[in-house]
Amino acid sequence: MQYRQLGRSGLLVSELCLGAMSFGGQGYWKVVGGLDEVAARRLVDMALDAGVNFFDTADVYSHGEAERILGQALGEKRQQVILATKVRGRMSRDINDAGLSRHHIMQGCEASLRRLGTDHIDLYIVHSFDFVTPLEETLGTLNDLVRQGKVRYLGCSNFFAWQLMKALAISEKHNWERFVSLQAYYSLVARDIEQEHVPLCQDQGLGITPWSPLAGGFLSGKYPRGGQGPADGRRSKEAQNFLQVDDDRGYRILDVVQRIARARELSAAQVSLNYLLRKNQVSSVIIGATKPEQLADNLKTVDWRLDESELAELDAASEPAHPYPRWMLERTRLDRTQAKTFGE
Ligand SMILES: NC(=O)c1ccc[n+]([C@@H]2O[C@H](COP(=O)([O-])OP(=O)(O)OC[C@H]3O[C@@H](n4cnc5c(N)ncnc54)[C@H](OP(=O)(O)O)[C@@H]3O)[C@@H](O)[C@H]2O)c1
Repeated sequence: MQYRQLGRSGLLVSELCLGAMSFGGQGYWKVVGGLDEVAARRLVDMALDAGVNFFDTADVYSHGEAERILGQALGEKRQQVILATKVRGRMSRDINDAGLSRHHIMQGCEASLRRLGTDHIDLYIVHSFDFVTPLEETLGTLNDLVRQGKVRYLGCSNFFAWQLMKALAISEKHNWERFVSLQAYYSLVARDIEQEHVPLCQDQGLGITPWSPLAGGFLSGKYPRGGQGPADGRRSKEAQNFLQVDDDRGYRILDVVQRIARARELSAAQVSLNYLLRKNQVSSVIIGATKPEQLADNLKTVDWRLDESELAELDAASEPAHPYPRWMLERTRLDRTQAKTFGE
């Protein structure tokens, strides 16, 4: 296992992070896993043995159960790992028990600490933008938590790029702790963040931690074109797939993934995950699993690297659209480096 700097922070995190969204299985979350304590502990131990030092969960996963189970599974090893959790989602029917208000963040942090069985959270992530609370209120509260020692680093997830840039500027203006990482939906079938977020993170020194890197299992190749995937797989169980994949485009990309996987005698999942490890600003890829054999497969992603020609093939097959203003700026940037384009 290799370790990378989380953005510009002093933290070193393993290239793979284990996500705990499949732990617990309360309510909606049963669809994504429902692992009990014994099954979860097995995955956590496997990850630790492979050198994973980075674990991700959230208060909302299984209504708090995922945090409790992860805390228990880590046990005494907790001090050796970087533990990330999130706040923002709705935790009860109380109108204020959601969002990024001072009220909810303070309450949410205490509750997460209790469930995780720890006295601090290494990386506290706002789970998505809150359109009600002013950013100053959220960022000032997060800064207070760092000053109080309850939280060590701050991260964000699921923001528009302009919202993230505004948040960074506000933190800087007040000399508050700023976000060190962005957790975003990023995979071979979802490269949307390359338009705005990736350049922003490069410019501002944030580490990117992709979530759902296999698009909920699609990129493992176990859902055949026009056929049935395994009945116990998340994408078969979900009536309405949370992570929509355009079939035509998705299977065209998967064809290339599978061709490279066959040639190298690797799995499609390993190729798909390795692709993200080659992308700019990625600090750690957050993997998920419901079975030990899936985790064993995914952990083998780190022993090798896609070469330049394989990378180029995958890039070409999955090239996203270039929405405005990208295509315009790609044209106009030339006249700052080549005087000969004048009037032509
Ligand atoms: N910030 C956010 O908004 C956000 C959102 C989502 C996730 N996350 C984080 O990202 C983590 C990973 O997300 P994810 O679970 O959606 O990741 P994913 O890699 O896209 O999907 C993982 C799922 O795919 C299947 N799978 C994984 N490896 C496989 C393999 N080698 N072969 C066959 N099937 C395989 C398993 O589901 P089945 O067994 O059911 O097929 C597994 O649970 C979560 O645990 C969470 O920490 C964050």
